[in-house]
Amino acid sequence: MSHLAISERLKLELERLIQKNEEYIGYPLTKNFDYQVLAPFLNLQINNVGDPFTTSSLGIDTKNIEKEVIGFFTHLLNASKNDVWGYVTNGGSEGNLYGLYLAREAFPNGMVYYSESTHYSVKKNLHLLNMQNIVIRAQDNGEIDYTDLESSITSRRHQPAIFFLNIGSTMKEAVDNLASVKKIIKKLALKNYYIHCDAALLGMIAPFHIPKPLFDFKEGIDSISISGHKFIGSPIPCGIVLCKNSHKERIGSTISYVDTKDTTITGSRNGLTPLILWYALKKMGLNGLKNNVEKSIALAKYTEEKLTILGVNAWRNTNAITVVFDKPSSELCKKFQLATEDSISHIICMPGIDKTQIDHFIEAYQSELEQKKDKTPLQIVQEEELLWPEYF
Ligand SMILES: Cc1ncc(COP(=O)(O)O)c(C=O)c1O
Repeated sequence: MSHLAISERLKLELERLIQKNEEYIGYPLTKNFDYQVLAPFLNLQINNVGDPFTTSSLGIDTKNIEKEVIGFFTHLLNASKNDVWGYVTNGGSEGNLYGLYLAREAFPNGMVYYSESTHYSVKKNLHLLNMQNIVIRAQDNGEIDYTDLESSITSRRHQPAIFFLNIGSTMKEAVDNLASVKKIIKKLALKNYYIHCDAALLGMIAPFHIPKPLFDFKEGIDSISISGHKFIGSPIPCGIVLCKNSHKERIGSTISYVDTKDTTITGSRNGLTPLILWYALKKMGLNGLKNNVEKSIALAKYTEEKLTILGVNAWRNTNAITVVFDKPSSELCKKFQLATEDSISHIICMPGIDKTQIDHFIEAYQSELEQKKDKTPLQIVQEEELLWPEYF
């Protein structure tokens, strides 16, 4: 391939990505970041192999920076550095896998309880870890059904309970109420239990909510996973997992080959993502993050109102930046990259999305609804079918 072909190819790929980045409004991914200052790091081997808190014989790491990122989240989640440990992961899914792994090591015969609103990756993780589990019904707003949870545990009180709670479910941004779960624990006098929080999106948002949901270490959680690329924003998926020190101590031996502790899921680990998170957190600070949260909530309120005026059934959970509404046509979902599940879609008002983009979507939805008025239900179904790829 000639030099020109390579540059031409890269140009095309960049243009396509810029356009696709501008268009989406249906996924929890912040758009407005600038990490140009970190470009020189791209020309270096960087590897944070093993435990961030133990050096390795391989010195090409950013573990000092990673420890500061962990320190920031430890503080945010009301924990002391002596009690809590963590590392920068490849994303929320890895942090959830890690939390479940620690729970299994603590209670090998434990039963995992999680709601049907839980992210799809968790089922796979439970399968990988070979953990017993029960799916609990969700309420209409996406929150776990506490009555179903209690009755499921009641018949298995002899077994340790592992609670996998959503602090912001994927489709509806629902928050499972830790106080209600703790009530069940007390009522059933459970002695052996573990609480993991999946705070993929809300981990960076809920600390600024008023009132603040209960989901931190002061409230007795055992571990938590947060995505980094979601609310902070990053060109490389990443996340943070934090757990009580005592759980981490159960795992991870020292490996002589790299002379560090093998306490993380993967061996080689990304050294760029700690830099990205660190830089973003330093630049924004708590005030910047709080501002972004407020702006996102205000935009979600605006979006919900606009959709309601249009006659669309739209709603959101308290303080949510996710607006849930009746699924529009597949064409519109594709154009605006809207996630859908059954009969609903959502818009997630992430930093970098503004009113203009929302208005643009509202106009498109409005004209679609007007066109639909003149069509029979059969015509609508036939048009939708035409959009399905042939291999279906
Ligand atoms: C509630 C929840 N958990 C976990 C994940 C997975 O996170 P990641 O994509 O960072 O692996 C998501 C992703 O959307 C999510 O919404």
